[in-house]
Amino acid sequence: MIITPRTRGFICLTAHPEGCAQNVQNQISYVKEQGTIDGPKKVLVIGSSTGFGLASRITSTYGAGAGTIGVYFEKPPAPGKTASAGWYNTAAFETQAIKDGFYAKSLNGDAFSDEIKQKTFDLIREDLGQVDLVIYSLASPRRTHPKTGEVFNSVLKPIGETFTNKTVDFHTGIVSEISIPPANEEEMANTIAVMGGEDWEFWIEGLKEAGLLADGAITVAYSYIGPAVTEAVYRKGTIGGAKDHLEKTAFTLTDKLKDINGKAYVSVNKALVTQASSAIPVIPLYISLLYKIMKEKGLHEGCIEQIERLFSEHLYTSNEVPVDEKGRIRIDDLELRADVQEKVAELWPQATTESLDTMADLNGYKKDFFNLFGFEVAGVDYEKDSDEMVEIPGLS
Ligand code: NAD
Ligand code: NA
Repeated sequence: MIITPRTRGFICLTAHPEGCAQNVQNQISYVKEQGTIDGPKKVLVIGSSTGFGLASRITSTYGAGAGTIGVYFEKPPAPGKTASAGWYNTAAFETQAIKDGFYAKSLNGDAFSDEIKQKTFDLIREDLGQVDLVIYSLASPRRTHPKTGEVFNSVLKPIGETFTNKTVDFHTGIVSEISIPPANEEEMANTIAVMGGEDWEFWIEGLKEAGLLADGAITVAYSYIGPAVTEAVYRKGTIGGAKDHLEKTAFTLTDKLKDINGKAYVSVNKALVTQASSAIPVIPLYISLLYKIMKEKGLHEGCIEQIERLFSEHLYTSNEVPVDEKGRIRIDDLELRADVQEKVAELWPQATTESLDTMADLNGYKKDFFNLFGFEVAGVDYEKDSDEMVEIPGLS
C-alpha cells in the first residue's frame, strides 16, 4: 500500500518501512565511517527500537562488533495497518546485522514486567552466556509495577508553582503561552516510579543474581539537564525528580557491582527530537532555536553522533571515564556551551509566530519529527507501494 503520515498532535499513527530502513542504514553508515571502537562484545539494550537506544544498538554492533539483544515495546503490523516505527527500525537493523554476520535478537513486550525480564535472562543465558554492557534507554509515560500491579502515570509538571512560558505547535508554527499548574506529591512520586531508577535497578540486580553480567560489565542509563528556559518544567519539575532518582541509582548500582568490577553510569545527552521529547511542553520551541544555533556553529548532532561519541570518546578509551562533579558523563557539553546558551537566552524573548521562520529551525524540527516515522527521508520513493507486513528476523 501507499503509506502517508497520519498525525495526531505530537504522535504519528503510521510509519514507513522503507523510510525507517533508510534511517537505520544511514546510522549504520555513519558508525562505520568513524572507525572501530575497542568496546563491548555482548550487549543488552533496553529500549532498543528508537532514539538513543537504537543508536546504542547500532554503535555496539557496527562500532565494536558486538552481538546484541534488544528489548522494546512496539506495535506489529496488521494487514492494511502499519507497524510502529520502532518495529520497522528493528526489522531493518536485525536484517542487516544478521546478514553481516552479527548476533542480533530481540524481545517485544513490557520491559517493566518480570515476565520480559525473565525471558531476556533466559535468552542471554542460552545464546550469549553473559553480557558486558547493558544500556537502559526506556522512555515511557506509564509503568505497571511488577510486584504490586499498581499502574503509575508520569506527568510533566513544575513543582511548587505554576509555570508559564512560551511553546510552539511545531505543525503550525504558532507560538503561544502555556501555563502548567504544579504537581502534587502523588504525581511527583508516580513520575519517579515510571522514569526513576527502580526498574533499572531491578534489571541489573536480576541480571547479576542470575550470573549474566560479565566481569567488568558496565551499565549506562540516559538523562537530560537542559537550559534555564526549560528548567522549571523539566529538570526542576517532576521529570527532573525522576532523573535525580535515576542518577542516584547509578551509585547504588556501582556499589552492587563492585564484586564483579562493574560500574553504572548515567550519561547526560543532548536535546533531540524523539517520540519522547516531542511530548514535553516548551521543549519543541527550545529545540527549534537550539538546532538553528548549533547547525550554524557546526555543532549539531543527532542520536547516532551522540552515542558514537559516548562510546568512542568516553566509555571505551584507555583512560578513566570522564565524569562531572555528580559522577555523570556529559555528552550535552556542546548544547550547554556558553556561547550556545547565551544565544538561546537572547532569542527566547524574541520568539513569536512571525519571527520563528527566520529565527528558529522549525523546518529542521518538523523534518526530524517526520523522519522518526520514516517519512521525508532522502532517497525513499514514497509513491511506490510498500509491504507493511515486515517481520523482525531476530524476534524471540
Ligand atoms: P524514545 O521514545 O525514542 O525510545 C524509547 C524506547 O523505549 C523505545 O525503544 C520503546 O520501544 C521503549 N519502551 C518504552 N516503553 C517500554 C516498555 N514498557 N517496555 C519496553 N520498551 C519500552 O526515547 P529517547 O528520547 O531515545 O529516550 C531514551 C532515554 O534518553 C530516556 O531516558 C530519555 O529521558 C533520555 N534522553 C532523551 C533526550 C531527548 O532529547 N530525546 C535527551 C537526553 C536524554
Ligand atoms: Na531509546
